[in-house]
Amino acid sequence: MRRKIIAANWKMNMTQNESDSYLDTFLREVAEEKRVDIVLVPPFTALSHVSQRLNNVQNVKLGAQNMHWEKGGAFTGEISAAMIRELFARYVILGHSERRTLFGETDETVNRKTKVAHEGSLKPIVCIGETLTERDANQVEQVLEKQLRGSLAGLDAKALTETVLAYEPVWAIGTGRTATPEQAQAAHAFIRKVLAEMSDAATADKVRIQYGGSVKPGNTAELMSQPDIDGALVGGASLVARDFAEIIKLTAAL
Ligand code: PGA
Repeated sequence: MRRKIIAANWKMNMTQNESDSYLDTFLREVAEEKRVDIVLVPPFTALSHVSQRLNNVQNVKLGAQNMHWEKGGAFTGEISAAMIRELFARYVILGHSERRTLFGETDETVNRKTKVAHEGSLKPIVCIGETLTERDANQVEQVLEKQLRGSLAGLDAKALTETVLAYEPVWAIGTGRTATPEQAQAAHAFIRKVLAEMSDAATADKVRIQYGGSVKPGNTAELMSQPDIDGALVGGASLVARDFAEIIKLTAAL
């Protein structure tokens, strides 16, 4: 059985100050919740602060939103795996569609980062997903397969099972327009089929695949009860402590 993993992608939101009142509410709400993995992914500037607040909290883990593939050097504005790990973060989101479309991220750079994340003991959350134009042109499977093979090239079975995937249809991100549970399940099942081809069925069966794109308390149960959906990557709704806690509780109760 795959343990579900629910992550909050705060994107470019939340100062340290703002994170304090959020955490006051959120940590109280989820204090007893041990049935799902919970990950908070703040912007870099709040990572250290949130890390300190999570010091004695066992059931909430920390992640970063991006990182560079080099260990260090002349890369102005970039952050390395070791810098993230030093703050006790365990996860890093890679290849989010906003980074792919707005900041020139490619399958190749995501692949380099994914390998370096594993070397640096960070679990990557690798994002893939089609645009609306691609869906309308019936290219969903083709796009997902290309992103999967490109982003995960060269990973062995162990690294694959420690990678979390996030299927995020670009048209559903921040739009209030969620994939139907059937659309999401079909994409997730396809992703698992490609993973099995890339490695083997037993490995593919262990990989956790999150759904992302306008997840909110109202649509959590129907999405999270699909057989191949193993959690959620939540943007907008994760900025409201009670809503994010509710998504976690609804998923844990399934
Ligand atoms: P959303 O974002 O929940 O606001 O749609 C999801 C994401 O981009 O990870």
